[in-house]
Amino acid sequence: MDKNFSSNTSSRKDEHLKICIEKDVKYENVTSGFDNYSIKPNILTTILPDDVDLSTMLLDKSIDSPLLIAGMTGGSEKGKKINKIIAKVCDEFNIGMGVGSQRAAIENPTLISSFQVRDNAENIPLLANLGIAQFSSGYSVKEAEKAIEMINADGLAIHVNPLQEFIQYDGNKKLINVQQNLINLVSECKYPIIVKSVGTGFSKEDVKLLSSLKIAALDIAGAGGTNWKKIEMYRNPSLSTLSSSLINWGIPTADCLVNAVDVISDSSKKIIASGGIWNGMDAIKALMLGADYVAFALPALLAISKDSEAGLRKFVHNYILEMKIVLTMLGIINLEELRKKKNLLMRKTPH
Ligand SMILES: Cc1cc2nc3c(=O)[nH]c(=O)nc-3n(C[C@H](O)[C@H](O)[C@H](O)COP(=O)(O)O)c2cc1C
Repeated sequence: MDKNFSSNTSSRKDEHLKICIEKDVKYENVTSGFDNYSIKPNILTTILPDDVDLSTMLLDKSIDSPLLIAGMTGGSEKGKKINKIIAKVCDEFNIGMGVGSQRAAIENPTLISSFQVRDNAENIPLLANLGIAQFSSGYSVKEAEKAIEMINADGLAIHVNPLQEFIQYDGNKKLINVQQNLINLVSECKYPIIVKSVGTGFSKEDVKLLSSLKIAALDIAGAGGTNWKKIEMYRNPSLSTLSSSLINWGIPTADCLVNAVDVISDSSKKIIASGGIWNGMDAIKALMLGADYVAFALPALLAISKDSEAGLRKFVHNYILEMKIVLTMLGIINLEELRKKKNLLMRKTPH
C-alpha cells in the first residue's frame, strides 16, 4: 500500500465504497417516484434509434447525451482507480463526470493525483466536489477554487448532506451558517457552482433559496436511490435502533424535480435530476418532467465492481441505448423536440 494513502477522510471514503458494493444501500419503501409516470409508445414510429440525437451543452462544453456520472470517490488508491475508469468511459461517451469530495486532498496534498482525471478525459465537463460542512469549519472560497484548479474542472459541486453528517459518528455536528456560507461562496467564487444533495432531495423552500443565488445548476439528488443514512448505519451498528422513518427520510426524486421545475424560472440555472435514476426510461421521464441533465452514482459503482471498465462501458452504452429507444418510440429526434412534447408523459396516480 502506498504510504501516502492513509488519512482518516480517505479511509472513511473507502469504507463507503465497500459498503455500497457489498450491502443493500438503497431506500426501503421509498422509490424515486418515476413509476408514478407512464409514457405510451407509438408502434407506428417512423424513426430509428440511430436517428436520435441526445447532444446538448453542459458548462459551455458539448456533450453527446445529457448525462453525468455523479461524484463518488478519490483520496485513496481504490478511488484513484475508480475515477480513472469513470473518466475513460465518460470520455468515450462524451458525457459529464464528477469526482468525490476533495477534502482528503485539501487536507493531504499527496492525495491530489487520485482526483486528477484530465489525462483520460481531456474535454468532458468535469465537476470538482466539496461538502458545505467543511465551510462551517473554516473553508472559504480559497479552498473552493483550489479544488477546481487542482483537477482542472469546469465547476464545483457543493454537497449538502446534514442528515448524513448528524447520523455519521465522525460527521460534522457543528453544521453552522450553512445558508450564509453558501451565499458567500456562490457570490465570491469565480467558477460555476452546482449545489447538490446526496440522495435526500431539496424541499420547495430549499430550492427557492438556492435559486435566488448565482448558482449554475442544482442537482436535486432525491430519495429513492442511494441512502446515506443507511450507509452510516452499516458503519456504526449501534445506530440500529434509529427509526426506519428517519433512516428512509427524504423527498422522492420525481417529486423534488417537479418542485424544482416549478420554482426555478431562470433557464440559465440548470436542473440535474439524480437519486435512483437507474435506467434510460426513467432518465427520459426525468427530462420530460423538466430536468436538463440526469446523473447517477451507485449504478456506475456497481457496474464497475461487477466487471471493471467493461462493466461500466456496457452499463452506460445500454442506458443511452434505452433513452434512444424510448425517444424513437415517441417519434422524438432530439432534446429540443422532447421539450415540446412533455405532454406525452402522464401521471398514473394523483398527487
Ligand atoms: C460510493 C458513493 C460515494 C459518494 N460520495 C460522494 C461525494 O464524495 N460527494 C458528493 O457530492 N456525493 C457523493 N455521493 C452521492 C452521489 O453523488 C449521488 O448524489 C447520490 O448517490 C444519489 O445518486 P444515486 O442514487 O444514483 O447513487 C456518493 C455516492 C456513492 C454511491
